[in-house]
Amino acid sequence: MEFKESNRLRKEFNDRIPGGAHTYAKGDDQFPEGMAPYIVRGKGCRIWDVDGNEFIEYGIGLRSVSLGHAFEPVLKAVTDQLRFGANFGRPSTIELECAEEFLSLVDGADMVKFCKNGSDALDGAIKLARAYTGRDLVGMCASHPFFSVHDWFIGTTPMAGGIPRALKELTTKFYYNDLASAEKMFAEHPGEISCVILEPHKYDDPADNFLHKLKDLCHKNGAVFILDEMITGFRWHLNGAQKKFNIVPDLSTWGKALGNGFAISALTGKREIMELGGLKHNKERVFLLSTTHGAETHAMAAAIATIRFYKQNNVIERLYEQGTKLEVGIMKASNDLNLKDKVAVLGPPCCSVYTTRDQNNQPSQLFRTLFMQETMKRGLIMPSTIISYSHSDADVAETVEKIHEALVVYKKAIAEGIDKYLEGRSVQPVWRKYNNDMPDH
Ligand SMILES: Cc1ncc(COP(=O)(O)O)c(C=O)c1O
Repeated sequence: MEFKESNRLRKEFNDRIPGGAHTYAKGDDQFPEGMAPYIVRGKGCRIWDVDGNEFIEYGIGLRSVSLGHAFEPVLKAVTDQLRFGANFGRPSTIELECAEEFLSLVDGADMVKFCKNGSDALDGAIKLARAYTGRDLVGMCASHPFFSVHDWFIGTTPMAGGIPRALKELTTKFYYNDLASAEKMFAEHPGEISCVILEPHKYDDPADNFLHKLKDLCHKNGAVFILDEMITGFRWHLNGAQKKFNIVPDLSTWGKALGNGFAISALTGKREIMELGGLKHNKERVFLLSTTHGAETHAMAAAIATIRFYKQNNVIERLYEQGTKLEVGIMKASNDLNLKDKVAVLGPPCCSVYTTRDQNNQPSQLFRTLFMQETMKRGLIMPSTIISYSHSDADVAETVEKIHEALVVYKKAIAEGIDKYLEGRSVQPVWRKYNNDMPDH
């Protein structure tokens, strides 16, 4: 497999686009040196790069393309809609159709506001919570890795250049499955916390009724309870992880798989709070998610087609089934090679990730790089093990076979030293304060 054209394009991308990509998770520094392909097309679970290389993709549009690339029923709905125009000076009727279709999925949600990305939906949720409570602080679950591109979240990371200190001080933290940390947070900021934000689930199941106890704590302290379903929505359960864990939040935010890769996200929840952004109250007006492109008609069409396909085709069950086959296959390969303490699959099968540990069983970016290097050489793009509806049994079987081969190299690197097998620099964590040495830049 050659990356000649991609390697030529890398300089041009980085000369014209800061970071060479529009999402840090897609950046060159996330891929092995000299193996960061530029993509020209995708179909189902496969993608093709500018050098003509074909890959089975796991990660799949940063988890947004849950049905598959260029998925016919969604594609048809989008192209049909495009013929009628994308954006008008008044709402298009498809916005109501999309709102009704979406609200049919979410228990306890009375209204919805659509926008283009998850960060904006969360921003809207925070604004509503602040307006509703008259408080400034946000209580964020620090066990969860990412919520938003906006200052309230990025200000909490090591990459907080350009964010005023005053804004950084408005976000406080608690931890998942650690009710005491949330109690402490509320006790340290009495009457100041407007909302609590967390993903309903990640890798650890909620223990000892954590979600319900947190919601009660939140309400006892007069704060709004917000669940971020960006990843869990359209994967854990057709009605969101909130349904799976039988909890109704005050507000929830959705995106990613909602439009099978097309740009649409949603803020939804109780009328009493959502209506603050509306015309039917006498309180101070809240400027809630008013954007030029927020209701682009073809994105609405994508969401409607996606939701209908999910309803008619047991998509969630298939994501779990195919994800389980993948997990079982990888774990068998890992076990057979006596690597199960090093390479293991984590998280629910509908949306899993994997570990790459070194000879001392410590998490290792170097071994992650080696794993990616060896899987990419064999036609897999695998920053994670996220499955889609389009991954067939044959795709999964081919993947497992190739992972077995890659793990043979991994095992040799454990025994003989990674330097002998790693062909370039290590991948880098996104969250770093400075650009570390990147010899390929
Ligand atoms: C849990 C979670 N919330 C929110 C977001 C932000 O979504 P977007 O990138 O669409 O702004 C992401 C993005 O990865 C996410 O993973």
